[in-house]
Amino acid sequence: MAFNLTINGMAHAVDVEPETPLLWVLRDNIGLTGTKFGCGIAQCGVCTVHIDGQPVRSCMTPAAAAVGRQVTTIEGLSPDGSHPVQRAWVEHTVPQCGYCQSGQIMAAAALLARTPNPTDQDIDTAMMGQLCRCGTYQRIRKAIHRAAELARS
Ligand code: FES
Ligand code: FES
Repeated sequence: MAFNLTINGMAHAVDVEPETPLLWVLRDNIGLTGTKFGCGIAQCGVCTVHIDGQPVRSCMTPAAAAVGRQVTTIEGLSPDGSHPVQRAWVEHTVPQCGYCQSGQIMAAAALLARTPNPTDQDIDTAMMGQLCRCGTYQRIRKAIHRAAELARS
């Protein structure tokens, strides 16, 4: 079935079954491989993207659910890597292996969009489902606080 999706501000015509996971469409049909596959059952968060600014698990989101909405992936968060979260991530050298990090960044960006000055508790609640097998959680928390500062300045 053919339908149109708006991804990172660009229209894409895709021809897939409506229940095809958005993650497959992003990676296999559109070629946006910054969003990763982990568990495939909405448990790890590595596949997090935004739909209309809200963080969603793209591995469990049917592609058809994104029709008529704005999908943003890590590639579309900023044109040049200058989003405050991305700058803070670099400043705090957050990634280790890096595999979970696009999902972490997308979840953090969504948190800051709705809570510009988050507490540790806000961060822990928002990021609870974003797993990192390298254990970068402390750096993630520091970087989110720093990103909040950068966004305000
Ligand atoms: S791959 Fe989507 S939550 Fe794990
Ligand atoms: S940085 Fe390796 S899984 Fe998170």
